[in-house]
Amino acid sequence: MKYLSILSAVLFICFSCQKPTKTFTEAEISIIPKPIQTIIGEGSYSFSKNTTILVEEEAQKPAAKYLSDLFENAVGYALPFSETAENASIILMKDVGIEPEAYHLKVTPEKIIIKANDAAGYFYGVQTIRQLLPSNIEKTANKEQKWVIPSIVINDAPRFSWRGMHMDFSRHFFSIDEVKTFLDYMALYKLNTYHMHLTDDQGWRIEIKKYPLLTEKGAWRIESSHDKTCNELAKTDPSYIIDPQHYHERDGKKMYGGFFTQEQIKEIIVYASERQIEVIPEIDMPGHFKSAIDNYPYLSCTGKPGWGKDFSTPACLGKESSYEFTKNILAEIAVLFPSKYIHIGGDEVNIESWEECPLCQKAIKHNNLKNEHELQSFFNKDIEAFLKTKGKELMGWDEIVEGGLSKDATMMWWRNWAPKMRDIAANNGSDMIITPCFEYYFDAKHEVTPFEKVYKYEPIPEGFTQAQSKHVLGIQANLWSEMIPNFKRLQYQAFPRMLAMAETAWSSKSNKNYEAFQERMGIQYDRLDALGIQYHIPSVTGFKDKVAFLDKAIVTLNPPLKGMDIYYTTDGSVPSKKSNKYTAPLEFTETITLNTIAFRGDIASDTRAASIEKQTYLEPVTITPKKGLIKRWVGVKKFKVVDAIVLPKKASFTSVAAINIENYDVVEQLSMVFKGYFYAEEEGLFEFATKSDDGSLLYIGDQLVVDNGGNHPAIEKNGMVALKKGWHPLTVKFHEATGGGQLTAWYTAPNGEKTILKGNTIAHD
Ligand code: ACM
Ligand code: ZN
Repeated sequence: MKYLSILSAVLFICFSCQKPTKTFTEAEISIIPKPIQTIIGEGSYSFSKNTTILVEEEAQKPAAKYLSDLFENAVGYALPFSETAENASIILMKDVGIEPEAYHLKVTPEKIIIKANDAAGYFYGVQTIRQLLPSNIEKTANKEQKWVIPSIVINDAPRFSWRGMHMDFSRHFFSIDEVKTFLDYMALYKLNTYHMHLTDDQGWRIEIKKYPLLTEKGAWRIESSHDKTCNELAKTDPSYIIDPQHYHERDGKKMYGGFFTQEQIKEIIVYASERQIEVIPEIDMPGHFKSAIDNYPYLSCTGKPGWGKDFSTPACLGKESSYEFTKNILAEIAVLFPSKYIHIGGDEVNIESWEECPLCQKAIKHNNLKNEHELQSFFNKDIEAFLKTKGKELMGWDEIVEGGLSKDATMMWWRNWAPKMRDIAANNGSDMIITPCFEYYFDAKHEVTPFEKVYKYEPIPEGFTQAQSKHVLGIQANLWSEMIPNFKRLQYQAFPRMLAMAETAWSSKSNKNYEAFQERMGIQYDRLDALGIQYHIPSVTGFKDKVAFLDKAIVTLNPPLKGMDIYYTTDGSVPSKKSNKYTAPLEFTETITLNTIAFRGDIASDTRAASIEKQTYLEPVTITPKKGLIKRWVGVKKFKVVDAIVLPKKASFTSVAAINIENYDVVEQLSMVFKGYFYAEEEGLFEFATKSDDGSLLYIGDQLVVDNGGNHPAIEKNGMVALKKGWHPLTVKFHEATGGGQLTAWYTAPNGEKTILKGNTIAHD
């Protein structure tokens, strides 16, 4: 009896005192995109087989199912649904005061409550819970894992209603399973619009029942120019291998291609809608239409497919058959896709075909149009009226603005070099999506469009009034697939930039902070690892592209992400995990090439090289040049790349106040040479840098100090040189090939700050 009472006393003590649960710190939590308000509470909630979800209405089901499936896939048991609130541990609760897509989440050690007013709100509450769970929830997890999330209160709502990602299926194709996987990535980061670029010159990718040749023939090709380039690159970089699943034997030949049947499209739409994602189809017309014209050649002005200087021959807009053909296609598209918008492309049309076509010219005259841009606008308006009869709105790339835009048409702004399109559209009362190619084209190299640039881009144009800003529905990033021949490469192009874009799409402007975002990214990479995503990691930092030294150079290497191991070589070979491991600053006394790489598990960073160069001081010139200006020579259509520029014997120069391309920023094949002097205010190691689109080369005397050569979008390169005090000959060469165009040059004195090369530091004779 005595023993029994002691035992029951012990049991009582054990059951009556609840073991305190772990309290989380801010540093342990990573939610991307950042919610409006997060308050961390005491303790945490532990998921178990007894965790049940209360589902009271239809709108709550997709969210509840997503969470339950997450557990079933990772842990091996689904979270059951409960009929009554008393038994439920996760309660989805309707709150009519909450805005569309917004949610309120409260987690305590006892319960989880998600309040929302629509299916999207509940769903995003669940996605936040997903990010609070250990990253192993993304894969088949081991049995030891504890499924604990912090006690927390979160109030959250999106900034923009359009949070989009685009994929191009024409240039390279992707399977339905890959599409679904991508939709899951989008859901995790609260992206809600999936733009499918389904047709283009290089392949037609959607079944159209009225025109079977579009897919019977138009979905297949032998080898495109992009395939050729990918195959060439794949010899040294396997990430460019064209996915073999899209090669098939057709008519006795090995052909690349594929398409979605209408049934498969329906499957994609259902899968997306379960994730609160709307699918927007794009059928690009009247240009980028070659895969249709190849098989229905009567559509073009000449009755033949072909190419203009830059773009393919478009559909003839003087023929009734073009209007009938495109409308018949769009009629099937309108039935298939429940989306509000249908995207008709409208970009990059070879209007020279229309200039030369009597039927197009007749249509221009007959309809009192001024030019070919207005002819395209006439076509767009006719298509728009047709789409309206099907209950759909027209969307197109920003070229649709050029010949006049109707108020109800929505523009996707992509051409950074045509900023006015945004003003014209907004002032016209038209909505727009911001998807600039310099920031949100994720097919661009990471070096050209780095993660930080994506994060820091503000999509509402400076100077936009509140009324104009209302027309910006949101933002989108695009993945053009010319050079994306497989899904792993697509992941590499999209990640981690997609997370940076998602935060701009969802989080309020005032809530964004790059450094804090980087901290949250540190944890988020674990989730990307668990999802098996091949993301990009930038290169090792801490040193210049060219390091000059006199006696010895001390070079410090910093990993691109915390905790990565760095490896390097000094014999010119490509570094790998078998190379020297970096443990402390490196000392060099001879000229060498340093090659570096960093690893996070098996994911490698970009490699980065530096030339480490032993130098002696360069002597200054003995003349005293005239301060404040530098001489500039300009040539148009003489050279194709900066490295090829040679000054003509009788070059004529003008004097300019800075090293830039003022007055010339839209000319193609433009070359410049700046010649003058730079003033070194003390003896020492000077740094120079250039940022240029396309290439630039900066010399002091005969020495190439900054090698930013080749044709490329805006990138910055730097280098060093040892200078004695005084004036030194300075030459900068620059070349603009096509698109964009910019040049800036800087110097940094031994103990100075990075300063633009102008004013009293430059001179000419
Ligand atoms: C585009 O990039 N041509 C829209
Ligand atoms: Zn024509």
